[in-house]
Amino acid sequence: MPKQATPAAGALDQNKLNQFIGQMLSDLGGASSIALVRMGEAFGLYKALHAKGPMTSAELAKVAKVNERYLREWLSQQAASNYLAYHAKTRKFSLPPEQAMVFAIEDSPVYMMGGFDVMAALLDNQPKVQTAFKKGGGVAWGDQAGCMFCAVAKFFRPGYHNHLVAEWLPALDGVVEKLKSGAKVADVGCGHGWSTVLMAKAFPRSHFIGYDFHPSSIEEAASHAKSPKNASFEVGLAKGYPGKDFDLVTCFDCLHDMGDPAGAASHIRQSLKRDGTWMIVEPMAGDRLEQNLNPVGRLYYAGSTMVCLPTSLSQEVGVGLGAQAGEAKLREVITAGGFRSVRRAAETPFNMILEARP
Ligand SMILES: C[S@@+](CC[C@H](N)C(=O)[O-])C[C@H]1O[C@@H](n2cnc3c(N)ncnc32)[C@H](O)[C@@H]1O
Repeated sequence: MPKQATPAAGALDQNKLNQFIGQMLSDLGGASSIALVRMGEAFGLYKALHAKGPMTSAELAKVAKVNERYLREWLSQQAASNYLAYHAKTRKFSLPPEQAMVFAIEDSPVYMMGGFDVMAALLDNQPKVQTAFKKGGGVAWGDQAGCMFCAVAKFFRPGYHNHLVAEWLPALDGVVEKLKSGAKVADVGCGHGWSTVLMAKAFPRSHFIGYDFHPSSIEEAASHAKSPKNASFEVGLAKGYPGKDFDLVTCFDCLHDMGDPAGAASHIRQSLKRDGTWMIVEPMAGDRLEQNLNPVGRLYYAGSTMVCLPTSLSQEVGVGLGAQAGEAKLREVITAGGFRSVRRAAETPFNMILEARP
């Protein structure tokens, strides 16, 4: 190995170096917390602290039925991470209300436990993606490591729970009226089907069919859908599912994962009624790389490298749009499928919601 040169004296800005080391400490601290946060969830530690208030390690160990010595170390790391508060006088630990929104309250708009599962799945994916990175080609969605599908579904569910029925559907032209009176809807690339189930519960007169090409996701979705009778699920390709005459087709965070998104757009257009609507929910992104060099773009580019790109490149055509494609690229794909109008109907810091009409 060649000897690594240290920059010459004067070439190094010590303040910048110190700042960057500070960032690295924080980054590594976050990465080191992935396993601990997931164990906290597995043992119900956040929920116990949220429900019962401040506790010592001995008290919490009793409630959660875990080993006190391990728990004490875990609690100390969590307090050092600012995930829990430590009260030195009483030696108790508590979950502040703001942290509870992230770690304990599943329906909160900022519940992020799914994000930690996604991070673990990205690491599990490394050997397969690393091989593809060298040789080209993709890694099929169904071959991805761990339970990528469960992690992704859990990560997105809070956003759908808080925005889909309350904000995103009403932002579409005339769609809520149709859904109220009875419409036919396809949720394409539905994964575990949380979006399908949420819409089905909100609009009992409409019928919802979730399609996804991954059979085990469809099985899982069908188990979530036991309560709403107006939702069903079928294995189907985005550019080949069988239904017709839909009033609304939805695609949640999946268009960029497809190998042939323009082919999917064309099939979706043909499956819609003439006055139908296609709602496309995609990760928030600017059109130029420099617009995405921020914390949200950082996470999405990571997910894109480890999950979205390999998924797209494993399919026929293999366009590889990437999770940060941006609105201009998405418009190209949508209009290539024969849609005449596309507009941004709504947005959150994490998502853009596009409405396409035939
Ligand atoms: C990131 S996941 C999103 C799942 C779900 N819509 C959600 O928001 O939780 C992408 C989904 O797209 C599906 N998918 C990818 N390419 C597809 C294709 N060509 N046809 C149908 N489904 C596809 C995958 O199986 C996966 O469930």
